[in-house]
Amino acid sequence: MDYLAINRETWNKRTEIHVESDFYDIDGFLSGNCTLNDIELSALGDVTNKTLLHLQCHFGLDTLSWARRGAKVTGVDLSNTAIDKATKFSNQTQLDANFICSDVYSFDDINNQQFDIVFTSYGTICWLPCLKQWAKVIVNSLKKGGTFYIAEFHPCYDLISGYSYFDKNQPDIEEEATYSENAGDETSKVVLWPHAISSVINALIDEGLVIEHVNEFPYSPYNCFEGLTEIENGKFALLHKEHNIPLVFSIKATKPK
Ligand SMILES: C[S@@+](CC[C@H](N)C(=O)[O-])C[C@H]1O[C@@H](n2cnc3c(N)ncnc32)[C@H](O)[C@@H]1O
Repeated sequence: MDYLAINRETWNKRTEIHVESDFYDIDGFLSGNCTLNDIELSALGDVTNKTLLHLQCHFGLDTLSWARRGAKVTGVDLSNTAIDKATKFSNQTQLDANFICSDVYSFDDINNQQFDIVFTSYGTICWLPCLKQWAKVIVNSLKKGGTFYIAEFHPCYDLISGYSYFDKNQPDIEEEATYSENAGDETSKVVLWPHAISSVINALIDEGLVIEHVNEFPYSPYNCFEGLTEIENGKFALLHKEHNIPLVFSIKATKPK
């Protein structure tokens, strides 16, 4: 099964839907809004003049938001449609950015730059079968002393939705509509792998990164799952038997000097 071809086709279709959505609010972005959330903004702080690699950047709004804050950005994504749109938005906003269409794993073979920061966020690792290979790409792309940061949806949500919490070799293959409000009924095939939080942490440790912190959040900054309630402006939560489900986790790690 060519999982990359299947997921690329789906993300190409989703990109065309997402750029028309309120969820992604392109007009707001073009008029100057930052699409990043407090979670990652407060963790990474001042990025002025830092080189930043954004893995699985989708069509680049977060990447370009880092560029607006002074970072020198490179975005990588599997979807050629997403990379075309990202390049278009970078030209439109005159924000300097380099967008590359590549699978995360293959990026290692074509990249010869090392970055101050490697960043990835919200809906990324589920598309990758092997976290060891993912962590190798991160370490190879980081300068010594550089920072890796991930903010990701918490696998507890997948568990209560009927999927495995723990890693599996065999992927889940589903037909799904996308998550933006304008999705309609059209579905596409997706190939996904569950990853436990311990697997993510251990993959990074095994490749030599030093973990600075791991955080869990009782809310998502996106209203992208069924049943969420807005508890504060831009914070969406879900109760399970009267208790908050963790909806996001984050990890900050450093490559030793
Ligand atoms: C949920 S989006 C990333 C979300 C991002 N935070 C956003 O909303 O803009 C997931 C992205 O991963 C990309 N992707 C999926 N599999 C990939 C792979 N193997 N290599 C690189 N990118 C991949 C998809 O094309 C998609 O753009």
